[in-house]
Amino acid sequence: MKAGFHRAFPMASKPKPVRKAVLPVAGMGTRFLPATKAVPKEMLPVVDKPVVQYAVEEAREAGIEQFIFVTGRGKAIIEDHFDHAYELEMLLSAREKTNELHSLLEGLPVTGAVSFTRQQKPLGLGHAVWSARHLVGDEPFAVLLPDDLLVGKPGCLAQMMEAYHRVGGGAVVAAEEKPLEDVKRYGVIAPGKADGNVVEVKGLVEKPKPAKAPSRLCIIGRYILQPELFAELDRGETGAGGEIQVTDAMARLIGRMPFHAVKTTCDRYDCGDKVGFLHANIAVGLTRPDIAPALKAILKSVQTE
Ligand code: UTP
Repeated sequence: MKAGFHRAFPMASKPKPVRKAVLPVAGMGTRFLPATKAVPKEMLPVVDKPVVQYAVEEAREAGIEQFIFVTGRGKAIIEDHFDHAYELEMLLSAREKTNELHSLLEGLPVTGAVSFTRQQKPLGLGHAVWSARHLVGDEPFAVLLPDDLLVGKPGCLAQMMEAYHRVGGGAVVAAEEKPLEDVKRYGVIAPGKADGNVVEVKGLVEKPKPAKAPSRLCIIGRYILQPELFAELDRGETGAGGEIQVTDAMARLIGRMPFHAVKTTCDRYDCGDKVGFLHANIAVGLTRPDIAPALKAILKSVQTE
C-alpha cells in the first residue's frame, strides 16, 4: 500500500470483487470503412492477434472470470474466434505444429465463461452496456472497449482493480491527459483530490468544447462500474451526438459512491482509427523479438526514402 494513500482517500469497507467484464463490440466502425464493411473492427489484427483478444487477455490478467460480449449484426465471427476450431486444431496437432496450436488455445476462455447478447440497434455505448444488464445482474462489473488497445505491465484493468480495492470500491475509470484541442472527443473529468495516479472524480462532461472542459483529463475505454448504473441507463436519455452516453449515466453516480480515475501507465492506441491502428501495429511489432528486426529495417528504409 502506498504511503499516504489513506490520508487522501479514507475509505474502509471491503468492496465486492469484480468478476464480470462487458465488451461492447456492436459499433459500426465507420471510421475504418471500407475495411469494416464485412469484418468487425474488433477482429482487425494487431500483428497477429485480433484487437478484441488483447482486451480479453487484459481482463483475464485482472481477475475477470466472465466475459460478456455485446454484439450486433455482422459480428458473429467474434463468437467463432472464442470457440474451438476443431478441424484446424486437429490438423495442427497431426502436423506437430505445437506453437501454432498453442496460439489458438491460449486465447480461449474456459467453457461457460463467455456469453453473448445483442444490442440490436447501435444507439451508443450507454445503450450497449445497458444491453448486458441481465447477464451482469446485481454485482460490480468492468467494461472494456476493445478498440482501445492498452499495452503495459501490469495491464490497465489490473491497475484499476488495485485502485478499486484500495479506495473501497465504487466506480473507477481509466484516464489520460490529452491536449486541450482533443478533449471534445472524450468524456472529461472534473478532478478532486489526487494521490499518485489515482484522482477523485467530482464531475464528468461528455465531449465538451475546449473552453467548457473542466480539465484535460479524459476517460479512455476501461471502466469498473456498479449495477446502480443500469437504473440510470433505464431512462434511455440521449446526450452528445444523439447517442445514449455511458458518461452521462456515470455522472449521476457521483456523490452516491466512491468515484475515481486511474491515470494509467499503459500506452494507449485507438485501433478504431486508421492512424491509431497503424501506430499500434508498429509499436507492438517492435516489442516482438520474432518480427522486430525486420520491422526496424523496413521503418528505417521508409524514413530515408
Ligand atoms: P466507438 O465509438 O469507437 O465505435 O465505440 P463505433 O461507433 O463503431 O466507431 P465509429 O466512430 O463508427 O468508427 C467504442 C466501442 O463501443 C462499441 C464499439 O463496437 C467499440 O468497441 N459500441 C459503440 C457499441 O457496442 N455500440 C454502440 O452503439 C457504439
